[in-house]
Amino acid sequence: MKSYNDNFLRACRKEPVDHIPVWYMRQAGRYQPEYRKIREKYSLMEIVKRPEVCTEVTLLPIHQLNVDAAILFSDIMTPIESMGVPNEIKPNFGPYIPNPVRSASDIDKLIVPDFAETIPYVGETIKMLRGKLNVPLIGFCGAPFTLASYIIEGGPSKNYVNTKTLMYSDPESWHKLIGKLALGMVKYLTYQVESGAQALQVFDSWIGALSQEDYLEYVFPHMQMLFHELRQNTDVPVIHFGVNTGHLIEHLKEAGGDVIGFDWKTNITEGWKRLNHEVAIQGNLDPGALIAPWEVIEQKTKFILDQVDRDGFIFNLGHGITPNLKVETMQRLTEYIHSYRVDYNSPPRGEVRGGDPLHNKSYLKEKRQDLRNNATPAEATLWNALKNKQLEGRKFRRQHSIGNYIVDFFCVSESLVIELDGETHNNSFADENDMKRTQFLNDQGVKVIRFENKEVFENMDLVLHNIKEKFD
Ligand code: CP3
Repeated sequence: MKSYNDNFLRACRKEPVDHIPVWYMRQAGRYQPEYRKIREKYSLMEIVKRPEVCTEVTLLPIHQLNVDAAILFSDIMTPIESMGVPNEIKPNFGPYIPNPVRSASDIDKLIVPDFAETIPYVGETIKMLRGKLNVPLIGFCGAPFTLASYIIEGGPSKNYVNTKTLMYSDPESWHKLIGKLALGMVKYLTYQVESGAQALQVFDSWIGALSQEDYLEYVFPHMQMLFHELRQNTDVPVIHFGVNTGHLIEHLKEAGGDVIGFDWKTNITEGWKRLNHEVAIQGNLDPGALIAPWEVIEQKTKFILDQVDRDGFIFNLGHGITPNLKVETMQRLTEYIHSYRVDYNSPPRGEVRGGDPLHNKSYLKEKRQDLRNNATPAEATLWNALKNKQLEGRKFRRQHSIGNYIVDFFCVSESLVIELDGETHNNSFADENDMKRTQFLNDQGVKVIRFENKEVFENMDLVLHNIKEKFD
């Protein structure tokens, strides 16, 4: 067995990774011949109810694609029957609910059961999987709005007419329903974590059907409760995902989640910025692009990866894998992502809106603000020293000299760079102006050491010690 690969969990926590972690929504499914073979024998729910078969299906993409996380094979409807709403998953259709929930009395009949008792096979599968996996296991649930849309409509819907009818005409019943579903999902997710799930994803697939105002009024408080309660019960990372959510991502983040999932229409640079880079993000290749020639897939993937300029990114699709794909395409894509650079200390190579980031003032300002917000105590000391003018400015903008030491603070993309005179001279990180500055210093007989972000962090004590010694 290969050694444990926790890159996915590290990315959820915005920690450095060895390679960009990747998994795919619906990574086990009909595009795989092996899955189709198992489906000849069992229906989807029959697979879910048989821990051995369910384990085998969950493991298929792990072995086949070499992805960095497993997702429990199940469906968002799995816990719904034991909440009092019988349903089935119809092939090529989706969830079918023969008796839709529409009236106040239907809603009163819903219960929040002990899922360990009503659907014990979920916990058994998770336990079995944990014994076999060398990547983290993601548990999941449907979010209240998405679940409500199915149980109210009776199946998939285009315009959510019945759902919105209930929402607008009987808000009291609506809030009762969404509140019950939220409570149910807190219990269901907690049960999955207690069984061994190491991360969770909340699928609010159809939430994009609501405007901002309606989201805030009819859904947001329940989502906030869901994430808050979940945090009381568990400490695993939670991914919050929806489709067509370009207008909602700030609200999704505020509702909760350590990672926000983007659909393919949300630009990574802009979207992450709108979230102040405070959460990790997951996404967002258009699953529809996966039938394109490889060159097109590569170009679209590169466009996404080039925009990633910091820790906290998980590659995924903007929505689930469709059945018409080739396994080889998914293998090649996974390999490509794994071979992509993760040296976020160098300036981003990709296109950043607003021109070259090195010369974009507001971009630099934002990066600096980021650095201050995330400063370690040692960095904070330096920043304060700067702010209090203990480190005096001289000759060059942003350059400070203490005794014979030249200390140069500046930010290039996300990096805090410090130059000190010393033994070595390294120009690898310099833009044109830096080269000139370095040349000037060299001409005066001052040698320059340039620390990149990572080295500064690692050597901060030494840097501070040196500065302090000279300063004192
Ligand atoms: O990601 C994974 O590999 C785990 C498997 C998974 C399934 N459903 C299995 C499944 C997950 C995470 C889900 C969640 C789910 N189910 C969602 C949220 C994710 C999303 O796609 O937005 C939703 C909305 C559902 C409801 C549902 N179940 C739909 C819309 C369908 C598709 C109908 C179809 O035939 O395409 C299903 C059926 C379903 N769930 C399949 C799979 C693999 C289809 C394949 C089959 O019938 O074997």
